[in-house]
Amino acid sequence: MEIEKNKAEAKAIVTSWKENGLSVGFVPTMGALHEGHLMLIRASQKENDKTVCSIFVNPLQFNRKEDLENYPNTMEQDLEMLENEGCDLVFVPNAVAFYDGVVIPTYDFGLLGKTMEALHRPGHFEGVAAVINEFFKTLLPTRAYFGEKDFQQLAIIKWLVAKENFPVRIVACKTVRAESGLALSSRNLRLSADGRQLAASIYETLHYCKNSKSNYSPTTLVTSAIDKLKKTFDVEYFEIVDGENFQQVEKWEESANPRAFVAAHLEGVRLIDNLSLNP
Ligand code: PAF
Repeated sequence: MEIEKNKAEAKAIVTSWKENGLSVGFVPTMGALHEGHLMLIRASQKENDKTVCSIFVNPLQFNRKEDLENYPNTMEQDLEMLENEGCDLVFVPNAVAFYDGVVIPTYDFGLLGKTMEALHRPGHFEGVAAVINEFFKTLLPTRAYFGEKDFQQLAIIKWLVAKENFPVRIVACKTVRAESGLALSSRNLRLSADGRQLAASIYETLHYCKNSKSNYSPTTLVTSAIDKLKKTFDVEYFEIVDGENFQQVEKWEESANPRAFVAAHLEGVRLIDNLSLNP
């Protein structure tokens, strides 16, 4: 496994693979790797000749300084995990060098940029789009892999690929969950053992919405989901929106693909999750 800090060198390696007719899968991460990331690596390995993983805590996507400062760093262990998985290249750029001379693009994401994560984390998706734009321009992978846990991010990235006409295929991978149902996330490392158990009620609540869909309106379900979650969490938002156009769903007939989204805080850790409400 090659480890490369330099952008030009990483680009040269990927370019030479592609010139030799090899397909390249890309898994961007911010480190603190867990089984969810490894599933993305494995999905890439199945579909591509070579797999590149980046570990880069992108400062531009953090709207709160403490969040950036507290972001877990387990670099040594991450590299060991990637080596064991047989990853071909790990790109670990330095933030200053990575953005040196880069003009940060400005985008209007439409509704995607005005709802849920975008509303509650101003500047977050602009930062995600900036880093992915630069990664794609540098590496130009054949395919790139993202988890559905960050469903709105996934939609932003699909939007970006269409907007910039990147010849990169975006592959969405299912959320990987602990046995309790808790969606795996690097942030879970900051929860206590008790906190991790309690946090599982996020998934229970999403499931409750899925199972109760035929009995209640979306608005009623949102209210009762927030009431349930409020017992344990500081709830930032709970919404049911259409999984394609992200419009709020007020009547089930309005959406063929309703999806519940939640952001909630526990022990100072911000957790997000989402679930399709279709059977
Ligand atoms: O989902 C993440 O870990 C990050 O937002 C990403 C896609 C690696 C961009 O920094």
